[in-house]
Amino acid sequence: MEYQNQTAERTSNISDQPEHLAELNRIASGLKNPTFPKIFAVELCADCDLNCSMCHHDQMIRPKGNMPMPLWQKCADEIAEIAPKTNVWFSFCGEPLLMPDRLIEMLNYGEKVGLKSLNLNTNGMRLTNDVAKRLLDTSLSTIVIGIDGFSKEVYEENRFLGDRDIVYANVQFLLEERQRRGQGPEIMVQFIEMDNNANEFEAYRNHWLGLGATVKLRRQLSWGGKFETAIDVANERRIACPWAITMMHLFWDGRVPRCPGDTEGEESAGNAWDDSLKDLWANLSGYRQLHLDHKFDDLPERCDACTDWKTGASIKLRPGQVDHSERIRPSQ
Ligand SMILES: C[S@@+](CC[C@H](N)C(=O)[O-])C[C@H]1O[C@@H](n2cnc3c(N)ncnc32)[C@H](O)[C@@H]1O
Ligand code: SF4
Ligand code: SF4
Repeated sequence: MEYQNQTAERTSNISDQPEHLAELNRIASGLKNPTFPKIFAVELCADCDLNCSMCHHDQMIRPKGNMPMPLWQKCADEIAEIAPKTNVWFSFCGEPLLMPDRLIEMLNYGEKVGLKSLNLNTNGMRLTNDVAKRLLDTSLSTIVIGIDGFSKEVYEENRFLGDRDIVYANVQFLLEERQRRGQGPEIMVQFIEMDNNANEFEAYRNHWLGLGATVKLRRQLSWGGKFETAIDVANERRIACPWAITMMHLFWDGRVPRCPGDTEGEESAGNAWDDSLKDLWANLSGYRQLHLDHKFDDLPERCDACTDWKTGASIKLRPGQVDHSERIRPSQ
């Protein structure tokens, strides 16, 4: 989620803090029931080469496959016709750089039909120099690389099967190549706050800001209640779930889950092969309205265990900004 908040302070254990509650209320005040999603997450490839500690990927039981080009073309055409500025993100679950050629083909098609905001989430392991150059040739707006640690030990504990030195070198090359070209997408390194990495954040931030990256700090999601998180907000303070209100997710096989917590598509709205995205989004309107009307008891059971409505905004620090250190105080 791309909410931006440059003033919030952070600790890794949030329990009904006034600043966090104010942040949630600020987010809630901007939520309406839109006729088309603001953000699309497209699962190009459901397989992955890592097994990250905070990710539900290793619990996935639905079949894993790759999105066929005609399905993406159908979706891209419709988004371009209805709302070309929609933020489109590759990927939802899985690692898109397992299929770099398909990804680039999809990005080029999206650009050709007029999509204005194409963005990538990757673990960075396969972001080789060649792939980096090819991605910089596309019209990508943002590349976010998930790097949840500074030391080799902590990075590899969180991003299990990843190699800290390879990812750090890959992203450094990407930054240098963008610098050499004098233009390119925003390049963000994303740090998910967890118990084992908070004390590394300062070194991480200094390293990456020094190399020209944007540093994005986000809180941990529970993925529909599958993981415990450190965020504790009383149910009386509950807000409509920003994920459900703003985002549509598309599995590789065309199915549209109810929300990112519905990782198996058990509450699916239908399939994009069969229906328009607009109709699929409309199928979820009743859920959105329940959120907005605060009828939380009427939502599917998954919403009881899920803490993802509490997550709040990410913080983005950009090179050249002043006073970073005062804003973030990870616990030791
Ligand atoms: C599921 S991943 C798929 C893309 C790619 N494999 C990656 O790791 O960036 C999508 C995004 O979710 C993030 N993510 C995974 N588990 C998370 C969690 N428990 N809380 C917050 N973000 C999480 C990843 O860091 C990544 O930015
Ligand atoms: S690399 Fe991405 S999809 Fe794969 S396990 Fe890690 S967070 Fe999940
Ligand atoms: S709170 Fe409910 S709607 Fe929001 S992500 Fe969790 S399960 Fe989905």
